[in-house]
Amino acid sequence: MTRPHVLQMGPYPERDIPPLEARFVLHRLFAAKDKAAFLAEVGPRVRAIATRGDLGASAEVIAACPNLEIIAINGVGYDAVDFAALRARGITVTNTPGVLDGECADIAVGMMLALARGMIGAEAWARSGDWATKGDYPLQRRVWGQRAGILGLGRIGMELGRRLQGFGMKISYLARSPKDAPKDWQFVADPVDLAGASDFLFVTALANASTRHIVNAAVLRALGPRGMLFNISRAQNIDELALLDALETGSIGGAGLDVFEGEPALNPRFTRLKNVVLQPHVGSATFETRMEMGKLMLDNLVAHFDGRAVLTAVV
Ligand code: 8YV
Repeated sequence: MTRPHVLQMGPYPERDIPPLEARFVLHRLFAAKDKAAFLAEVGPRVRAIATRGDLGASAEVIAACPNLEIIAINGVGYDAVDFAALRARGITVTNTPGVLDGECADIAVGMMLALARGMIGAEAWARSGDWATKGDYPLQRRVWGQRAGILGLGRIGMELGRRLQGFGMKISYLARSPKDAPKDWQFVADPVDLAGASDFLFVTALANASTRHIVNAAVLRALGPRGMLFNISRAQNIDELALLDALETGSIGGAGLDVFEGEPALNPRFTRLKNVVLQPHVGSATFETRMEMGKLMLDNLVAHFDGRAVLTAVV
């Protein structure tokens, strides 16, 4: 059987490669020195793009693949795929929903605890000997029983809410319409109102044109100097410059961030701040979850080329 040609946009865990190569011929765009020349050479043979949530597929890449049939994302987010470039070409797009919800919820809870309880500074205090020379570490903020806001109550937001319930938190959420959520979770239609009702505000919404900068200066003002913001979705959902201003002036209490504009490079203003916990986009990054994501992406590709319905189509 001839193996269909697949354009690979970014690295995958090593153990994902043999099963992919058993079925497909992989062309590693990310490893090419001259990407334009590489695309011009392999593009016409490419029938599938295998990508990641953070990398997607640009209009330029899509245009270089005139025989493209499917874009398979190893990731849940599909905001980095240029859907306008796909229009009228009948190209299938798949993602990996469901298998990473718990993982992303965990990292949000981890950032909340690390930030509110000052765990990063406290670790350094113990490790450096400051404990012995300077005394007790400064007191920090309580987590349990506080008010949590979840901006975007999809699968990940739900998983997060369940965890926060375990902390005895009062939960409010914003979604396009009220969801089938526990009765004591309060639906809020406006992001400013949600921030006003939150000590800890979590952004879990998928990213699209209507969520761009949904957390803006007004939302940050409503969150206030004791409020903390956590983003495990996409950087574009927050006005990053407004956030940096708010963090620098203390008009919000702090932020835990897993995603950044222009990542993997960070605005250096972030690295100078003390009231942040910064993570390198690791929400789904465990062996177990990445294995399930890799399998689901492969299953989608195989189903497509076997002439079966894909498992998890985005469109
Ligand atoms: C990773 C993600 O960036 O699922 C997503 O949308 O952003 C992440 O899980 C990546 O897709 C892992 O391959």
